[in-house]
Amino acid sequence: MREGSRKPAVAPTGVERTLGEDELIVSKTDPKGILTYVNDVFLRISAYPEDAVLGQPHNMIRHPDMPRCVFKLLWDTIKSGQEIFAYVVNLAGDGAHYWVFAHVTPSFGPAGQIVGYHSNRRSPDRQAMEVIRPLYGQLVAEERRHSRPADALTASTAMLHEHADAVGGYERFVWSLEAARVGAR
Ligand SMILES: Cc1cc2nc3c(=O)[nH]c(=O)nc-3n(C[C@H](O)[C@H](O)[C@H](O)COP(=O)(O)O)c2cc1C
Repeated sequence: MREGSRKPAVAPTGVERTLGEDELIVSKTDPKGILTYVNDVFLRISAYPEDAVLGQPHNMIRHPDMPRCVFKLLWDTIKSGQEIFAYVVNLAGDGAHYWVFAHVTPSFGPAGQIVGYHSNRRSPDRQAMEVIRPLYGQLVAEERRHSRPADALTASTAMLHEHADAVGGYERFVWSLEAARVGAR
């Protein structure tokens, strides 16, 4: 879908919902990102009944403040058979939003082919959020500056990599934020 024309079916209310320290949100999709399984925490946090979720594209909880470049990196990574960790803000069915630290991995069939994807998410570290919120704000602002979606994505992707490369690449960037959490415990 063209990002510039996208309007969420649910209007964000600005109310933030938080996840308990020990709670895990789990979802599974087919290779196209259609939801095939969600756990109870997913349903409670996202304020949807199960029958409104299964069979829907995972972008049903997409928040308009999420930079497109993060999802491009996510899909490029998992389609290539690799796992990825990412901070994501999601939109619940009642307009609330919730931040998560997500781990997304491909699931492989017996012949080594990708048969779907699996994501576990937990509450993000507060200090990490102090880096992620402004960074995502800059990425979204950059994306909104361009009228052509392809230009928007190229520009924000470059910005994301520039930021991450300063600390040795995306993976190291994410883990540097996680290290802050481990150190804080
Ligand atoms: C296993 C898995 C988990 C995902 N989790 C989320 C998620 O929590 N929130 C989200 O907005 N997108 C998630 N996505 C990405 C969505 O499929 C989609 O790319 C994203 O919402 C952007 O939507 P758009 O391309 O319509 O802008 C996930 C994808 C997979 C395969």
